[in-house]
Amino acid sequence: MRLGKVMVVFGTRPEAIKMAPVIKELKKVQDIETLVVVTAQHREMLDQVLHLFAIVPDYDLDLMKEQQDLYSITTGVLNGLKEIMEQEKPDLVLVHGDTTTTFAAALAAFYQRIPVGHVEAGLRTRNKYSPYPEEMNRSLTGRLTELHFAPTDLSRENLLAESTAAFKIWVTGNTVIDALMETVQPDYKFGEELKEINLKNRILLVTTHRRENWGDRMRDIYQALIQLVEEFDDVEVVFPVHKNPTVKDIALEMLEGRERFHLLEPMEYEPFSNLMNASYIVLTDSGGIQEEAPSLGKPVLVLRDTTERPEAIQAGTVKLVGTIQKHIYEAARLLLSDRQEYDKMAHAVNPYGDGKAARRIVKVVKDFLYVRIGASNL
Ligand code: UD1
Ligand code: UDP
Repeated sequence: MRLGKVMVVFGTRPEAIKMAPVIKELKKVQDIETLVVVTAQHREMLDQVLHLFAIVPDYDLDLMKEQQDLYSITTGVLNGLKEIMEQEKPDLVLVHGDTTTTFAAALAAFYQRIPVGHVEAGLRTRNKYSPYPEEMNRSLTGRLTELHFAPTDLSRENLLAESTAAFKIWVTGNTVIDALMETVQPDYKFGEELKEINLKNRILLVTTHRRENWGDRMRDIYQALIQLVEEFDDVEVVFPVHKNPTVKDIALEMLEGRERFHLLEPMEYEPFSNLMNASYIVLTDSGGIQEEAPSLGKPVLVLRDTTERPEAIQAGTVKLVGTIQKHIYEAARLLLSDRQEYDKMAHAVNPYGDGKAARRIVKVVKDFLYVRIGASNL
């Protein structure tokens, strides 16, 4: 029996990583027609993930422009999806997380009265501008959603606190753990891109890209790294630099050519996740990495003032250190010089899932489509 058509829409690297397991599970269900639409809000960083998980989009809006802004992404996604949704008439649109693609795709579906399923629903800081614009993107997407796939009990509670009906929420775990379990291998062999790096040294793995950190805050973060590398001669910084020119320009200006600093292109997900596994400490303002590194037992220093992912902080493997140079330096210095402090943080915790999130999500999608068919036959 044909159950219906599900359109999965995403546009950036993290959405692709976290939707790949859902697409894989959906494609196992013959009675569901699965369509993949990429907005390509990101280009190269998205294509890396599509390639790794062998995802061939049915539609590609190819939106990315150098120095794009929030207006052009929002309108590009809305206008681009209008025709595709009119033509394909999906029974359900699945979006992920908190990017501008996520919100604009949910709005495009709503304009055609197509129900929306939101994967990674209910994360909140309750600060409109931090992270910006993600907090509003995910809150507004939540208002447009019928099926909320909350990764944890806490994200479910956030949704309930906003008067979301309990019967529309499922706690599934985060699909990032499903993806990670597919890629991290104990005997992984790194390729040429890491040949300059002495993996016997203690690796500080760094990523930065958040809009609210652009400018002086980013300079402060990089200054703290310089201080740490000067003080500890067995430490190397590995920093796959985000493609955003605003981030890249400051990183290159301050760090390029320095001893034991390795500024790389964005890495493929497989070597990156294995490098996380081989690192000593992770310093990041990323969302997804805050979920992945704890499950690998790696201490994470979060370079932000707020986080929508407090679960691993409660479990003790993540610290919110902010962006002030002194605070970052002192938190990392403690971990690098005090083994007991390090061991306190370095234990694997998995508040974000057991690797079966995508299966749970697809089960709910199937039930939803069954009920729709039943209702339309009444
Ligand atoms: C976007 C998301 C953010 C998410 C992040 C993940 C919004 C508003 N922001 O931020 O929520 O956490 O992705 O990385 O949705 N670029 C390239 N090649 C790429 C990707 C980006 O050149 O493959 C450059 C382009 O010049 C582009 C710029 O980066 O204009 C910014 O991309 P954009 O998607 O607007 O913002 P991000 O900071 O990547
Ligand atoms: N990642 C990657 N290569 C890199 C850096 C990060 O594959 O060079 C992965 C990382 O493991 C995580 C995701 O990209 O799954 C996070 O993306 P990003 O930090 O861009 O976005 P956020 O999670 O903050 O939305």
